[in-house]
Amino acid sequence: MICEDGSFGQHSGPVVRPANPADLPCISAWMAPHLASGVLRARPLVPDDFLVSQSGCVALSWWAGGAIELGSLVSMQPGHGRALVQAALQRARALGAERVVCLTGAPGFFSRLGFEAVGDGAPPHRQARPCAALAWKAARCRLCPDASACTQVLMEVWL
Ligand SMILES: CC(C)(COP(=O)(O)OP(=O)(O)OC[C@H]1O[C@@H](n2cnc3c(N)ncnc32)[C@H](O)[C@@H]1OP(=O)(O)O)[C@@H](O)C(=O)NCCC(=O)NCCS
Repeated sequence: MICEDGSFGQHSGPVVRPANPADLPCISAWMAPHLASGVLRARPLVPDDFLVSQSGCVALSWWAGGAIELGSLVSMQPGHGRALVQAALQRARALGAERVVCLTGAPGFFSRLGFEAVGDGAPPHRQARPCAALAWKAARCRLCPDASACTQVLMEVWL
C-alpha cells in the first residue's frame, strides 16, 4: 500500500518513503564505507531512484527485459533492511516490473526475503544461459574493472 505522503504503509516497523534531495547527504554517508570496502558499487545519487528509512536506503534501476535491479541497500539498524526491501518490491510492482534482481554479497539476507539464486548465482557475465535481461546487464558488467574477480551473487524474485 502506498500512502498519501508517499510512504509505504506497514502496520508496524520502520517507515520507508521515497527519497528527496535533502536525503542525499545521509544516503552518501550510509553508502560510503560499503563503497570503500567494495560491498557496494558506485552509482549516480539520483533521489528519484532511492527509498529511505530513518536508518537506511535502497535504490531501484530498470534493466532491459522488464526486470528492476535492487541495489545500494544499506541498513544501519536491524529490521530496516527487511522494511527497505519489502518497500522496494512494492514500488517495483507498482512500476510494472515482472522481476526484481540483485547482485549481492549478502545472499543469506535476500534468501530470507524470498529471493533465489539465478542459476548457480554467478553474475550476469558468467551466466551459462542468459535471458535477454541478463545479456543486457552482462554487457555492462564486462565494462566493470572488477568483472573477472566479481564475487557478487545474482538473485531474483518474480513479482
Ligand atoms: C545486509 C543488510 C542490509 C541487512 O540489514 P538488516 O537491517 O540488518 O536486516 P534485517 O534485520 O531486516 O534482517 C532480516 C532477516 O535477515 C537476516 N539477516 C540479516 N543480515 C543477514 C546476512 N548478512 N546474512 C543472512 N541473514 C541476514 C536477519 O537475521 C533477519 O532474519 P529473520 O528473518 O530471522 O528475522 C545490512 O547488514 C547492511 O546494510 N549491510 C551492509 C551493506 C550490504 O551488505 N548491503 C547488501 C548488498 S546489496
